[in-house]
Amino acid sequence: MPGSDIKNIAVVEGDGIGPEIIQEAKKILNVVQDQTSLKFNFTDAPAGGRVYKETGESLPASSMEVLEQSDAILYGAIGLPDLPQGVAEYAVLQIRQHFDEYVNLRPVKLFESAKDMCPLKDAYIGPGIDMLIVRENTEGLYAKIGGMVRDEVASNLMIYTKTGVDRIIKYAFELAASDPARPKVTSVDKANILACSQMWRERFHDIAKMEYPDVKIEDFYIDAFCQWLIRKPYECKVVVTENMFGDIVSDEAAFLLGSLGMAPSGNINPNGISMYEPIHGSAPDIAGQGIANPIGTILAARLMLSETFKETAIAKSIEDAVEIALSKGRTPDIAKEDLPTLTTVEMGDLIASELAEILRK
Ligand code: NAD
Ligand code: IPM
Ligand code: MN
Repeated sequence: MPGSDIKNIAVVEGDGIGPEIIQEAKKILNVVQDQTSLKFNFTDAPAGGRVYKETGESLPASSMEVLEQSDAILYGAIGLPDLPQGVAEYAVLQIRQHFDEYVNLRPVKLFESAKDMCPLKDAYIGPGIDMLIVRENTEGLYAKIGGMVRDEVASNLMIYTKTGVDRIIKYAFELAASDPARPKVTSVDKANILACSQMWRERFHDIAKMEYPDVKIEDFYIDAFCQWLIRKPYECKVVVTENMFGDIVSDEAAFLLGSLGMAPSGNINPNGISMYEPIHGSAPDIAGQGIANPIGTILAARLMLSETFKETAIAKSIEDAVEIALSKGRTPDIAKEDLPTLTTVEMGDLIASELAEILRK
């Protein structure tokens, strides 16, 4: 509904802890609609392993229709351990490709009130951790070319186009150029061996020189970068990398916050329909116990408000509510001795009440 204040949100709960964390993100968006003029219309779009078991498809056509009619997608997580690998996961890749969500924006921010959860010593945290990981999201090994050859040889082809490389690198540069607090772009590749990375590095330098001469740049090989990410995480401002490398380094970065449950992810098509989710999966080991951390999903809803709906002030209020809530109570994955340990629902309630108070002011 362009131009209207009612935003149509397609909701994919998914599998495992998916429904538990989505419920809390919706709770936060409900506070937003109670306290502001922004309104949401939620429609379920079932996808993933549970739906596959019922219908034989992990992304039924009826769900795709709901996604296509939405202004944005809020997504939990998919994957069930008793299904063949890839069957449920196909849905998430299909959505990213179908809507050409070529940016996977993964902000990794260590909240002041949850600094105790960072596994690094103070000297390595330095002035703080606050980086934007920009993962290419439609090409590379995820272009889905390949498969089994005669049951004996398996292949996946890493493929990159100049158009695909240019658009993600420019997206990263725009983030740095528009924010004085992030004056540098770090590119992560494997140009010492991969042709795809050699093209990537050449384009990165050309684009930097021609279009963003004022933005600082640096390159790292992926192996060494995994070390720098924990050795000097405060040096990372905007990190741009290819699809598979980005998948891996973003989980490593998220654990700098103490739990995979803390970090959000936006699958963004700047001119189309974007999907917002936590970076983690369906966590079958803790599903159904009411102990999942909902913060990554709540911050995904926050990212939806800033990136798709351009509601930066409300988005900031959600972040502030999380900061305050983390000083009052925690889910078990980020528990602190002197604070109450909360269930998923209680953590969502606490953030919701802090947000309501902030928005009422
Ligand atoms: P995972 O991210 O689900 O879990 C890894 C570890 O982190 C587990 O110990 C889990 O308990 C913990 N964890 C994750 N989220 C948490 C949260 N919110 N609160 C507290 N702890 C949390 O990764 P996995 O176990 O490797 O994968 C499980 C399934 O999820 C697989 O089927 C995988 O393919 C799928 N997956 C889906 C997505 C997605 O939907 N986008 C992303 C990643 C993995
Ligand atoms: C993620 C996940 C997905 C990916 C899987 C489930 C296909 O790990 O969103 O990070 O590899 O992108
Ligand atoms: Mn991943």
